Amino acid sequence: MCGIIGFTGNINAKDVLLQGLKALEYRGYDSAGISYFTENGIRTIKAVGKVSGLADKVASASSDTAKCGIGHTRWATHGGVSETNCHPHRFGKVTLIHNGIIENYKELQDELAKEGKEPVSQTDSEIAAMVIDSCYKNNPVRAIKKAVKKLHGAYAFCIMFEDHPGSIYAIRNGSPLVATATKEGAIIASDMVALIKYSKDYFVLPEHHIAHLTAKSINITDLDQNEIEPDMLHVNWDMAAARKGGYEYFMLKEIHEQPESLHNTISPRIKDGLPDFSADNIPDSLFTDINRIVITACGTAMHAGLIGKNMIERFSRIPVTVDIASEFRYQNPILDSSTLVITISQSGETADTLAALRLAKENGAKTLSIVNVKGSSIARESDYVLYTHAGPEIAVASTKAYTVQLAAVYLVSFRFALAKGTLTEDETRKLAATLLEMPSFVENMLSCDKAIEPISNKLKKTKSLFFIGRGLDYALSCEGSIKLKEVSYIHSEAYAAGELKHGTISLITDNVPVIALATQENVFAKMISNIREVRSRGAKVIMVAGTGAQVDASLCDHLITLPPVNDLFAPFGAAIVLQYIAYYTATARGLNVDQPRNLAKSVTVE
Ligand code: M6R
Repeated sequence: MCGIIGFTGNINAKDVLLQGLKALEYRGYDSAGISYFTENGIRTIKAVGKVSGLADKVASASSDTAKCGIGHTRWATHGGVSETNCHPHRFGKVTLIHNGIIENYKELQDELAKEGKEPVSQTDSEIAAMVIDSCYKNNPVRAIKKAVKKLHGAYAFCIMFEDHPGSIYAIRNGSPLVATATKEGAIIASDMVALIKYSKDYFVLPEHHIAHLTAKSINITDLDQNEIEPDMLHVNWDMAAARKGGYEYFMLKEIHEQPESLHNTISPRIKDGLPDFSADNIPDSLFTDINRIVITACGTAMHAGLIGKNMIERFSRIPVTVDIASEFRYQNPILDSSTLVITISQSGETADTLAALRLAKENGAKTLSIVNVKGSSIARESDYVLYTHAGPEIAVASTKAYTVQLAAVYLVSFRFALAKGTLTEDETRKLAATLLEMPSFVENMLSCDKAIEPISNKLKKTKSLFFIGRGLDYALSCEGSIKLKEVSYIHSEAYAAGELKHGTISLITDNVPVIALATQENVFAKMISNIREVRSRGAKVIMVAGTGAQVDASLCDHLITLPPVNDLFAPFGAAIVLQYIAYYTATARGLNVDQPRNLAKSVTVE
């Protein structure tokens, strides 16, 4: 949830840290701070609010130079938003930054109190600094090894010891850390966006290993002090991808990047007109040797899973359930070696999804993950990975990561059915060919912003609204609703259109907006009846209809018609409409859509 960075090298560390924090700000943005070695010891500067505020404070505080330091952008979990609770935390000789949660911090705090040691903040992270300091007898590695035995929970730490200038030590359990050694120095951070300026090659710090960063190298040892060589990874995007490139917000930029992300995700997997996972090393036996599928994920990724269920069941006639990861993991799910558990995650680090994956593996299920971030925990721990290629997604609201997740579940459903023989080669070819058209279909859809902006202007004062749909459109309604809520703060609910009259229709009164998705011909007539039901109770209806739908003008207040497309692929178009509705409604309300309140991009805590 928080963003962390450490740098030691031969260029200005303060610049590296502040630029890195700016890039990482999407991970947490209630306060930020840096610490760096000076000739007179470690200096710490903190500020509540944005990284730009911290940068101003750093500039006015001093013109000292630094070559080694750590920085943190916070998303509060323990203790409110204040400079005291902001990282880095210092105790004794230890200064550290932390991402994660130390679950037993209260017990540890009580023990430390017996020695007369009291924290100044309300954070679990300061307690971790105190524990490490209490283990410290001039040997950083020994102190960290001893301390982590006492710390329970998820963590990624970057630690500086007062009497080891120029060195940064790091360790992680659960929370991500990636690092690279470059000619400018060694750099470590919670994710690649902070490193990309310096290198496209990096490694993921293995869990329970200690990294020692100096200006010249990074040395990694396990807890028995055996040195290891990390597996190097490479990203194929660059700095431009991690910048706004002229767009006002990352969210809008990422909406516009969807044709390219879809192309990169789909086209390498269609060989001779058929879906093909040989380059992903996913064998057909993964699909033929199972009798049920569980898809588990959180938020938007779970909504992609709802579409996946529809497609896989439709083509393979194999039962699929979709579970929210935070529910799945505590419900003693029925799993065995004939179950395939598919986890979907943009970040590959969502704590609940990772825990669900681990549970599936413990119970002998086969696992496949659909992940965007290379080398992330979920990708590394799954039996098989199907990477989506959206590039970095910076806006908290997921847009391009969602549509590439859709592309991935479509590919899985086609390959699955082909392997099982429930789709013929000819049928599969036709579907694959249509999927290949999605980048240009979405490109075409991007121009519907002109129709949506005025509708959003009308929605901006709304207190509450509803999304309704059936089948694939219901799954999309769920996504439309979360998107609108998270960036515009307008309350909304997604309802299966036929279910509305079993209670919720009581909330439909004069002028309540209802966004009705009606892109599926097989349930179109039913949707029309549902729309009439809400209209007759005063609803203002914004209808998204499929191509060729005969819509009576009196049925809705606004009509958006998708360009011609096979109904099964309509979600790719409807998703763009819903993303624009969220984006333009939020911007019409004057909100910062990239950094919505209370949210973080990657939810690495429970
Ligand atoms: O990184 P993940 O895909 O695992 O994240 C899951 C959710 O936290 C994420 O999709 C969230 O719902 C988005 N902010 C929604 O736009």
